[in-house]
Amino acid sequence: MDPLATDSPGDQTAMTDEAWQSVLRAVDQTYSELVAHQERLEDQNAELSAAKRLIESVMASVSDILIVIDRDGTVAEASASLRGLVGGEAGAVIGQPATGVFDTAGAELLAAALGRLRLHHAVTHFEASIPTETGAQPFDIALSPRIDARDRFAGAVLSGRPLGELRRAYAELELSHEQLKQAQSQIVRNEKLASLGRLLAGVAHELNNPISFVYASVHALEKYVGQFETYFQQVQSGAPREDLVRLRNDLKLERALGNLSTAIHGAREGAERVRDIVADLRRLSSEGSGERVAFDLAETARVGARWVERGSKTGVAVTFSGEEALRVCGVPGHVQQIVMNLVQNAIDAVDGVPDPAVRIDLDRAAGMARLTVSDNGPGIPEAQRAAVFDPFFTTKPVGKGTGLGLSISAKIADEHGGQLSLLPGPGAVFLLELPLAHEPGES
Ligand SMILES: Nc1ncnc2c1ncn2[C@@H]1O[C@H](COP(=O)(O)OP(=O)(O)O)[C@@H](O)[C@H]1O
Ligand SMILES: [Mg+2]
Repeated sequence: MDPLATDSPGDQTAMTDEAWQSVLRAVDQTYSELVAHQERLEDQNAELSAAKRLIESVMASVSDILIVIDRDGTVAEASASLRGLVGGEAGAVIGQPATGVFDTAGAELLAAALGRLRLHHAVTHFEASIPTETGAQPFDIALSPRIDARDRFAGAVLSGRPLGELRRAYAELELSHEQLKQAQSQIVRNEKLASLGRLLAGVAHELNNPISFVYASVHALEKYVGQFETYFQQVQSGAPREDLVRLRNDLKLERALGNLSTAIHGAREGAERVRDIVADLRRLSSEGSGERVAFDLAETARVGARWVERGSKTGVAVTFSGEEALRVCGVPGHVQQIVMNLVQNAIDAVDGVPDPAVRIDLDRAAGMARLTVSDNGPGIPEAQRAAVFDPFFTTKPVGKGTGLGLSISAKIADEHGGQLSLLPGPGAVFLLELPLAHEPGES
């Protein structure tokens, strides 16, 4: 017997089993690898779908326009807002050159920006318009590079904010700014009107005296004229001398003659007083013209204080000490407004105080003129010292104070290169410093 023939069936069977088993093992392994692959693929697929949904939802909901641009400059993704603008089918812009979305000028800008982006990878901004059915719409464009894992340029992301909206927001901002400015100047006007009101009260009071003086004198003159007329009529009609003497005595013409010059003198004095007041006022109004000149602060302070005194019903008189004359440089009308504000505040503060006193002291130090207004009122509580210069800060009842006097005064002082400050008490002490005028001949 062929040993092989006898052995082979058994051997063959054994070998075949082994081969089958290894084949089966290989199949098993391959199968389980396939299953693992399949699972991984499914996971990745799910991740991809989630990412895709996220991108789609972003693209659908951004209100600015958003375009993802490929390396070759074509549109890979576009936000729904862009598609809505260009009016095409969903996806009509996808695969088209991104420059095609914009008008000619915008396309050129985008092409240039993409070129720069390839080289420098830096974000660029420019303005470009997209033609739409309702006309070209301007956008503020930001173009950022997309960089791949190997740090190479992979395309760009373009976002555009409608400029119409920005411009509208800007216009609204501008409008409210304008309204604010108007409100502010209205308030400043009110404060000016309040000072003017005080000034006018003083003027009215001041004019009243000389005018009634003039009026009384004229009234007396009228009476005397009537008497002299009667007398001269008698003279002309050739009345006898004795009659004339009697008439002169009856009419008290001698005394009338004496009184006549007193009345004329009174009328002239009253008229001159009125003339002086008008001159004062005229100077004040011309000094409000805003021109800078050298002027005497002491004189301006005296005039200003006088007007406030006259306008107030308290009868408090301001006393002066220190320099008799102090020449400073500035707008006299504006500086006078500061003095009037400070004096008015001081007079308000001493209302009801026993022995009320308001003092103005003038001196000079380190190239500055110093004017101090102090009073023996209650002073300013520690907690309010920082606030008194704030606009609208007032402790006075509505209609009495605007809270603007000190803030405007401080601003004027500042504009003059000086300052207004609050010094320690007792009472309230405000210090106004202004640069001294350089007199001709001074070095
Ligand atoms: N001489 C003063 N004595 C006491 N308080 C003062 C004096 N001057 C100013 N103040 C305080 O500062 C506030 C602001 O003054 P101001 O700006 O002139 O506005 P207003 O006089 O309209 O109140 C006043 O309301 C008052 O409380
Ligand atoms: Mg005031």
